[in-house]
Amino acid sequence: MKILIIGSGGREHALAWKIAQSSKTTQVYVAPGNGGTSNANNIKNIQIENIDELAKFAEENNIKMTIVGPEVPLAEGIVDKFMSKDLRIFGPTKSAARLESSKKFAKDFMSRHSIPTAKYATFTNIEEAISYLETEGAPIVIKADGLASGKGVVVAETLEEAKEAVIDMISKKNVNKLIIEEYLTGEEASFIVMSDGINIMPLATSQDHKRLKDGDQGPNTGGMGAYSPANIVTPDLHNRIMKEIIVPTIQGMAKDGIPYTGFLYAGVMISPGENPERPIKTLEFNCRMGDPETQPIMMRMKSDFVDVLEHALNGSLDKAEIIWDRRVALGVVLASYNYPESPRKNDIINGIPNDKEDCITFHAATKISSGKYKTDGGRVLCVTTLGDSVRIARETAYKVISNITFDGMQYRSDIGWRSLKSNSSNKSG
Ligand code: AMP
Ligand code: GLY
Repeated sequence: MKILIIGSGGREHALAWKIAQSSKTTQVYVAPGNGGTSNANNIKNIQIENIDELAKFAEENNIKMTIVGPEVPLAEGIVDKFMSKDLRIFGPTKSAARLESSKKFAKDFMSRHSIPTAKYATFTNIEEAISYLETEGAPIVIKADGLASGKGVVVAETLEEAKEAVIDMISKKNVNKLIIEEYLTGEEASFIVMSDGINIMPLATSQDHKRLKDGDQGPNTGGMGAYSPANIVTPDLHNRIMKEIIVPTIQGMAKDGIPYTGFLYAGVMISPGENPERPIKTLEFNCRMGDPETQPIMMRMKSDFVDVLEHALNGSLDKAEIIWDRRVALGVVLASYNYPESPRKNDIINGIPNDKEDCITFHAATKISSGKYKTDGGRVLCVTTLGDSVRIARETAYKVISNITFDGMQYRSDIGWRSLKSNSSNKSG
């Protein structure tokens, strides 16, 4: 069957790579794709981004299944459009995608359905927001209501910073609505599931590295690296996340008349400590898979993903099974000069290795021009490896990276540090 993937990042390259391996797949199209998806067996890029034209392409080319990578087309209603033409597509409708596209919708939904999350209040007015900040104090978190490509959240350490963020969002960035939220401490994990509206299939757990620099310093980014599994998510915490967050979300959406179909990504904050009852809270929902979390997750998936997606589209996810590689997968993002501020394009990339069973270089913002790979945006490549431990997967990744060059290349040298730290504290304790 022919399968269409929407998007152009590392996540979409990983999805295309995995889907192309299925015996059921004859051709994968990626719209618009990147340098990596333009140059692989049975994967082809198509230069279409408009939703009506994508639906037309799917209709005319007998596409049997469409998978949506990023949030923007979901928030714009790509699923509603395809469904109106009886085209099979896996993702939430525009209305269900509000779990990501409106922080206020998500917070009100969680509060209505008793899903644990940080205490919050919503504001449209600077004076009221500031007076709330003065009663709450710092640290505190300010979030713009709508989609902001990861730039709509300010974790303010001081009251001054918090006030500045409120003024900046409302008066300079034209944010009409913002959320002010209690600051949570603990360790974050990415918990991603698939749902057919009723049944839920959890994917392997993972952990992202959001800050640009080592030691979780520097500005927030889309994610500088990820690994799977996240060993903070013990079997007990896995059960609790399902029971306290995921199941009530899928059931709550169905109850509210907005059944949720698609990938659902809960960013979960796990409170510090060892107490089995310690709070777990939902930081955010994304209505899609994570980037770069998808890259290690796809590396670990041993089952035929197209089978699983077919179950999801047929409403029979309860019959699906996913077998995971027991090894750890770890992905390190190589980003361009000046990412995330204003990434430079057109730097020539050298040294991309051939793929191996335990090391795949997923492309993100790359293109091929004059026969060479060049940078084409912020996150450029994600070198993703498999290994018997985080340490081994990481050694392989950094060895490969030492041969890749482009001007201004930035990457973190500590991907997986939390896992290594918890392993060493386990050993010493
Ligand atoms: P979000 O887009 O809502 O996930 O926020 C982006 C990042 O900001 C999260 O991954 C956290 O690192 C941080 N963050 C968001 N909300 C909070 C919170 N309530 N307390 C502490 N950190 C937060
Ligand atoms: N890596 C975080 C995200 O995909 O939102």
